[in-house]
Amino acid sequence: MKIILVVGARPNFVKISPLIKAIKKHNNTSHQSINYVLVHTGQHYDPFMSDTFFQSLEIPQPHFNLGIGSGTHAEQVGHTMIAFEKILKSEKPDWVVVVGDVNATLACSVTAKKEQVKVCHIEAGLRSGDIKMPEEINRLVTDRLSDLLLTPDQISTNNLQREGTDPSRIKMVGNIMIDSLNHALETARTLDLNEIIKRNSTITLDSHFEPENYALITLHRPSNVDLQKDLTKIVTFLSKNAAKEIPLVWPVHPRTLKNLTKFELLEKLKMNPNIFLLKPLSYFDMLKLNSTAKVVITDSGGLQEECTVLGTPCLTMRFNTERPITLQERGGTSTLVGTDLDKLEIAFKKALRQKRSPHIPELWDGQTADRCLQSLIETHSQK
Ligand code: UD1
Repeated sequence: MKIILVVGARPNFVKISPLIKAIKKHNNTSHQSINYVLVHTGQHYDPFMSDTFFQSLEIPQPHFNLGIGSGTHAEQVGHTMIAFEKILKSEKPDWVVVVGDVNATLACSVTAKKEQVKVCHIEAGLRSGDIKMPEEINRLVTDRLSDLLLTPDQISTNNLQREGTDPSRIKMVGNIMIDSLNHALETARTLDLNEIIKRNSTITLDSHFEPENYALITLHRPSNVDLQKDLTKIVTFLSKNAAKEIPLVWPVHPRTLKNLTKFELLEKLKMNPNIFLLKPLSYFDMLKLNSTAKVVITDSGGLQEECTVLGTPCLTMRFNTERPITLQERGGTSTLVGTDLDKLEIAFKKALRQKRSPHIPELWDGQTADRCLQSLIETHSQK
């Protein structure tokens, strides 16, 4: 069997690494080896957003890098489709495996189906119900086209069934990101927090960092960072309210950095001695920071899951989530606070007093990649 594995953006790297390890393990023990071709669309291209993840997650160099880079959604998707079609024609795979919900996921699944190549979607069935999110559009289209839909939990399986997906094409396998987390956690725990802060700081540090006590911030969603009015409100809350309670550690996403600069908010943040602005972090550095943070404020999808497994209280600056299994009411650690800063302040103060309470949902056991591969092999042999 020959498969193409597609990655494009940062969260994809964390999901594909365990699958490549599972394929290598399979090839060492089985006489029916799997031939894989790794394609990087190049949507994320900065060394901090891409190369460091390939190194730390032991992902081999991609066989193809499409070099798509920045652009509008149509530009990213269109350029990816044109370049990926050529690869499909030359490589002639049996399957294309896509992960997550980024533009690469959408572009490559559509192109594969048009070339009559089967598609397997890992992390299928997630639904925020918010069609304004680019990721929701990507999920809906990818799932509608996929031949094999591998879901992280029962809620996602139910979503697909409700939409009329043939149940024989759906398999609940657990969360592949947690395979990466389990693999990396022991090493991450040995890292020195002060050293991480110094090495990744964007400014010369005058202020002293207290490793026992900090909140971790990540924000990158267009709905939070693209409009001046909204980003200004968030920055004001962080510097005037949150940073008075506890030091804030904030690895800044390129989209957010660009807008903080454009809206002239960056200098204000840099001058606050209780805010530590960092470059985008490597996987291990981020894991270490999450594993000892008092609280995380984020709009990321993956962080809600990692916080749940690590037990870190997570305040999610969104009105909805495609990952309801991470919500407090379902045993997770995430609370949806939207963009209501009063609500955020109350939840923030409460979270600072909370104890860590890790929760491992069903099948989030570090063995998901093996189950993904097994499903793929079984489905392939049935056809
Ligand atoms: C993308 C994904 C999102 C995911 C996020 C994780 C889509 C639709 N969105 O959003 O689901 O949660 O990645 O990071 O696919 N940029 C750089 N260097 C890079 C990458 C991007 O400077 O390596 C800049 C680009 O100039 C771009 C901006 O950051 O304008 C945003 O990048 P983009 O790929 O459009 O989407 P993300 O916001 O990162």
